[in-house]
Amino acid sequence: MTHPKKKICDNILEAIGHTPMVRLNRIPAGIVKGTVLVKLETFNPGNSIKDRMALKMIEDAERAGLLKPGGTIIEGTSGNTGMGLAIAAVVKGYKCIFTTTDKQSKEKVDALRAFGAEVIVCPTNVDPEDPRSYYSVSSRLVNEVPNSWKANQYDNLSNAQAHYEQTGPEIWEQTDGRITHLVVGVGTGGTASGTGRYLKERNPKIKVWGIDTYGSVFKKYKETGVFDKNEIYPYITEGIGEDFLPQNVDFDVIDGFEKVTDKDAAVMTRRIAREEGIFGGNSAGAAIAGLLQLKDRFTADDLIVVIFHDHGSRYMAKMFNDEWMREKGFLDVSGLTARDMVASGLSGELLSVEADETVEKAIRLMARHDFSQVSITRDKRLVGSLNETHLYDELLRNPEVRHQPVSSIMLPAFPFVDITTPVELLSTMITPQTPAVLVRDFKLDKTFIITRSDVIRAFV
Ligand SMILES: Cc1ncc(COP(=O)(O)O)c(C=O)c1O
Repeated sequence: MTHPKKKICDNILEAIGHTPMVRLNRIPAGIVKGTVLVKLETFNPGNSIKDRMALKMIEDAERAGLLKPGGTIIEGTSGNTGMGLAIAAVVKGYKCIFTTTDKQSKEKVDALRAFGAEVIVCPTNVDPEDPRSYYSVSSRLVNEVPNSWKANQYDNLSNAQAHYEQTGPEIWEQTDGRITHLVVGVGTGGTASGTGRYLKERNPKIKVWGIDTYGSVFKKYKETGVFDKNEIYPYITEGIGEDFLPQNVDFDVIDGFEKVTDKDAAVMTRRIAREEGIFGGNSAGAAIAGLLQLKDRFTADDLIVVIFHDHGSRYMAKMFNDEWMREKGFLDVSGLTARDMVASGLSGELLSVEADETVEKAIRLMARHDFSQVSITRDKRLVGSLNETHLYDELLRNPEVRHQPVSSIMLPAFPFVDITTPVELLSTMITPQTPAVLVRDFKLDKTFIITRSDVIRAFV
């Protein structure tokens, strides 16, 4: 961590930390009582908070003898941790191999390569235990690559410790100990748990709110103690939410979780730039959208600190691209929406078969319900899909396929769209390659499928 009074840093790693804290003046006005400050972690050398924990994990591993001179750092990372590790690796003389998912921004992957890191892109919609997942690939590599060390940001407690030692004390000092609430997106959990633990030690009355996404397991686990695989499905928001419980999430430190939809997070990410002049990333948008949802929890005397994890420049092809926003249904268009289709019964509840059931069973189920497609689940988690045209081709090629498990011929899972997506847009999203889309009605806690014929019926 930089010495606050040090005028010249000996290398870029000394420029990590001591980030500014800025008041939000417009977005919360008239909605959230109290003062809202944001801690701008974009001012770190890698433009994200992850520089702090990346360096801490490396230095703890060096001290423990786990990372040796000339070694290779391996990690499954969505980009920001990779950036922190890659910068430290350049300065300290290590190699880096990262695995990431095909959901991540291309800019993030290119940025890692800019620092000389090797990046392997893996599929998103597979279980963490699946050998193709970015978790599994990085675990395999650490066994294969000599003199390598896996940082393991999810379970490596040096992650939360970095925030206990740096982010927490900085926030305490910057607010002169007046902070009453911390609002922070939770991914590995390091930021919320480490920062929150320090602040609560100074003042046990401080409340820590974790921001979660729909499609992630945190909120339900906190509220019920149940790890519910039904909560898991693909989502768009980057950096927060998980489909497992990382050891860095300390559920005793985080008082509660608030879930934010992909659309609300994306729209707010754009508003922060336009209304506050702050170029934050997608999880900053989620955090501020969550803050507004939590408005009734705060009083006029409260001092709320929200952490902005990363920089808007990483989302130029996504949240800051109008075409992408329109494609996802995140820009408002008038007219009939997916929600109207669900409400009027034009779309059916999702029909699914488990991946190890036979193709024959899937065919029977489709015939019984007169459906042209089904979703495939593994352990209730959506992993793929089947449609009539594909089934027909497969059966023609090999009639015996009907005795095989559906997983042997399944196609990628149908994509989720926001329930507010206009029908006009749905018609451009549903193509021969993507014959259906899924919508989640959070109020009913049900998933619905919308097909081409449903959209046609909506027009008449
Ligand atoms: C953009 C972004 N926001 C938020 C988070 C969540 O932070 P943490 O992993 O400390 O919970 C991450 C972590 O990957 C991130 O990359």
